[in-house]
Amino acid sequence: MDTITDIMQTMSYGPAPEDSGVVRDWLKKHEAGFGHFIDGAFTAPGETFDVMNPATEEVIAKVSQGTAADVDAAVKAARSAQKDWAALPGHERAKYLYALARHIQQHARFLAVLETIDNGKPIRESRDIDVPLVVRHFYHHAGWAEILADEFPGARAHGVCGQVIPWNFPLLMLAWKVAPALAAGNTVVLKPAEYTPLTALALAEIVREIGLPKGVFNIVTGDGETGAAITGHPGIDKVAFTGSTEVGRLIRRQTAGTGKGLTLELGGKSPFIVFADADLDAAVEGVVDSIWFNQGQVCCAGSRILVAEAAAKRFEELLRRRMQTLVIGDPLEKSTDVGAIVHPVQLERIRSLVEQGRAEGVTIHQGEAPAGCFYPPTLATEVEPASILSSEEIFGPVVTLTSFRTPEDGVALANNTRYGLAASIWSENINLAIDVAAKVKAGVVWINCANLFDAGAGFGGYRESGFGREGGREGMGAYLAHPAPKAKRPEEKPGTLSATPVAEMAASAIDRTAKLYVGGKQARPDSGYSYGVSGAKGAVGLAGLGNRKDVRNAVEAAHKAGGWGAQTGHNRAQVLYYLAENLSARAAEFEDRLKSFGQGGDAAKAEVATAIRRIFWYAAQADKFDGAVHQTKSAHVTLAMHEPLGVLGIACPTALPLLGFVSLVLPAIAMGNRVVAVPSQTHPLAATDLYQVLDTSDVPGGVVNIVTGERDVLARTLAEHDDVDAVWYFGTAAGGRMVEEASSGNLKQTWTEDGAARDWTSSEGQGRSFLSRATQVKNIWVPYGE
Ligand code: NAI
Repeated sequence: MDTITDIMQTMSYGPAPEDSGVVRDWLKKHEAGFGHFIDGAFTAPGETFDVMNPATEEVIAKVSQGTAADVDAAVKAARSAQKDWAALPGHERAKYLYALARHIQQHARFLAVLETIDNGKPIRESRDIDVPLVVRHFYHHAGWAEILADEFPGARAHGVCGQVIPWNFPLLMLAWKVAPALAAGNTVVLKPAEYTPLTALALAEIVREIGLPKGVFNIVTGDGETGAAITGHPGIDKVAFTGSTEVGRLIRRQTAGTGKGLTLELGGKSPFIVFADADLDAAVEGVVDSIWFNQGQVCCAGSRILVAEAAAKRFEELLRRRMQTLVIGDPLEKSTDVGAIVHPVQLERIRSLVEQGRAEGVTIHQGEAPAGCFYPPTLATEVEPASILSSEEIFGPVVTLTSFRTPEDGVALANNTRYGLAASIWSENINLAIDVAAKVKAGVVWINCANLFDAGAGFGGYRESGFGREGGREGMGAYLAHPAPKAKRPEEKPGTLSATPVAEMAASAIDRTAKLYVGGKQARPDSGYSYGVSGAKGAVGLAGLGNRKDVRNAVEAAHKAGGWGAQTGHNRAQVLYYLAENLSARAAEFEDRLKSFGQGGDAAKAEVATAIRRIFWYAAQADKFDGAVHQTKSAHVTLAMHEPLGVLGIACPTALPLLGFVSLVLPAIAMGNRVVAVPSQTHPLAATDLYQVLDTSDVPGGVVNIVTGERDVLARTLAEHDDVDAVWYFGTAAGGRMVEEASSGNLKQTWTEDGAARDWTSSEGQGRSFLSRATQVKNIWVPYGE
C-alpha cells in the first residue's frame, strides 16, 4: 500500500472509477436499438449500425441509419410545428428552454457518464466542462428568447434548421446549435455524428420529459449520407454544420443558389504563441489544456506551438517533463487526463500523419499509451513550416514546436495556414499580447489562457475555418433572418458585351472612354478591348472590357493597401467626408452623366443627392460601428472586436449605377476593407467618373479598384480567387448560385441578392446591416487579477 510520502511524490492515489451503473441500465433498456426522434416520439429502429465505447471497443448500442424518407418525415414534422412555435411569445419559448436547462442539470451526471462511454473523453471533462457548458447554453438562450423582440426588432426565424454535428463534443455541439435555433422560433432536424449519437438520443428523452411541443426538436441518426439528405432537403431553410473543412466545402456547393442560410464551423490549425517573457509554467499548463484536452480532438486546439527562440529550450524541457505526468487510460477513472480516441478510424489517421511527419525527419517525443484505441500525448520538434504536421489538422494529441525570432516572425508563422479559428498568446507584456492578438487571423484569441468557452461570446472562424458565429449576440443573429426584399421584377442578365466599334456617340462634353482603376491609377484593360455603353439616344461612351488578369491585378493592388484597415476610424472618416464633399462639388456633372443614360432630371438629381448623403452617413459610422465587451467568465474581459474582412469583391446591380455602387462600396471601405468593384455592367461610366473624385479625396491607391466588363465573368473570377475574402453579388439568381458555388474553394463569405430587389433610394439601401456584412467579429479573452 502507498504511504502518504509515496503519494506526495507520485501524486498517484488509488483508483477512483466513476460508477456507470445507471448508464449501463439505460443502454440495456435500449438493447433492441434506437429509432429516430421525430414529431415527439421515437420511431421503431430501422436498419441499424453499431455504436461502440472506444475505451473498451465493446458495442454499446445499435442506432438507426436514417434514410431519405426518415429525413423527410422529420422535416415535415418540423415544418408543421414551426409556425406555432414561432408564434409563441418569446417568454413562452424561454420557459421551455429554462426547463430544458434545469432538467439537463438534474440529469447532469447521467449525461456526463454517457458522453464519456460513447466518446472516450475523460469523465473529468464531460462532468466539469461539457455538461455545465450545455446547461449554460440553454439558460443563456432562454434569456435571448425572452428579450428577442426588443433586441432584434424586425427579425424573424428562418423556419426549419438542418443541423449536422461532429463527434468531439457531441452534446455541447448540439446545445450550441439547438438552443439559439429554438430561442429564435426555428424548429430543428439534427443529426449527431455516427460515432457518438447517444447523448442526443438521451436529450430527446429529456425533451419529452419537459413537454416540448411535438416536432420542434427532431433527431435523425446516421452517417454522412443522412447528413447530406438533411443539408440538401428542399424543406430546410437554414443549415448549420460543424465538422471537417472538406465536408463544409461540399455543403457550400450543395446549398449554393438555394437561398438557405448557412453557417459553417470547420477545421483549424491554431497557433499557440509563447513569448520569452511569458510565465512558462502557466504556458505549459496552457498547452495541456489546448492539445491534450479531449485527446486533441478539438477544432480550436492549439496544435502549433510557436515559441520565442530565447525561451524555446527551457519551454521544451518543461513541456516534456509535464508530458510524463499525464495520466492516460480509462476515461471513467476520475484522475485520467487523456482518454480514448473516438474511433479506430481516427486513431489510424493520427498514426498515419505522425508517421508521415517522422518520415520527413521530424523528431517525435511521446510516452506510452495503453493498448487499444489510445494515442499518447505527442510533441513534434524540428518541424518545418512545410511539414505535413504543421499544415494538416491532425485532430489528435499531437503538437508541433517551432521557434521564432521576432514578434513579426511569430505572427507570420501563426498566419501561415489556410485556417483561422483560434490562437493562444502568452506574454506578461499586455501591449505585445494585444498587438499580436490584433494581427493574428483568427475568430477567437485567448491571451494567457486557452480553450475557454462561454455562451455569452461568439465562437467561429476566419478563412477556411468557416463563417458565422455560435454564442453571444452574433450567434443569436445567425438564427434570425432579415428577409431580403422580394424582387418585383427580377434582375435580367445584361446582354453579352460587344468589343466592336460602336456607332457615333451621342453628343456629350464628358470624356467618353473610361479605363479601369487599379491601385489608384487608371489602367488599360489587359484584353485591349473596350465595349460600347448605350444611353437613351444611342452610344454614350466606351468602357474597358476587363478580364481575369485585370481582376488579379486589382486584387494584388487591394492587398498592398492593407494599411487602410489599420488606420483609425477617425482617419477613414476624414477621407470619406472629403470624398462626399468633392462629389457634392461635382454633383451637376454626375447628374448629366446619369441623364445621358436616359434618366429624368429629377431622378438623376435625387440619385446623386442620395449618394452624397450616403457617403456622409458611412463616414460618420467609420468610428462608431464598434464591438462589445461580453459578460463571460469571472476575472476575464472578452473583447468582441469588429474587424474588416480584408479584400472584398463587389458586383453591383445594373440600375442606379451611381447609387448602387456607392451603397455597396462605402460600407465596405468605411470598415477598413479594400474592394475590387465591378460597377453596373450597362452603365459603368457613373462609377468610372469617380476616379478623379477618389484621387482628389486622398483615398489611398488600392482601397477602391474598379474593373468594368461582363459582371458574371468578373464575379466568377472574384469568387474563385483565393486572395479574395468575401464577394457581394447583386445580379441575377443564376449568377448568385454561380458565385456561391465558386466561393467554396477558400470558403469565402458571400452575400448574394437579386439586384432588382432592393430599393437603393430608400432605407433598404443603407444601414447597420451593411456594416455587419462588412466586418467579422474577433473575440479576445484577457484574464485579469493576481
Ligand atoms: P466529418 O466532417 O465527415 O463529420 C462531421 C459530421 O458531418 C458527421 O455528423 C458526419 O456524419 C456528417 N457528414 C459527413 N459527410 C457529410 C455530407 N456530405 N453532408 C452532410 N453531412 C455529412 O468529419 P469526420 O469524418 O468525422 O472526421 C474527419 C476529420 O475531420 C477529422 O480527423 C478532423 O480532422 C475533422 N473534424 C473536424 C471537426 C471540427 O470540429 N472542426 C469535427 C470533426 C472532424
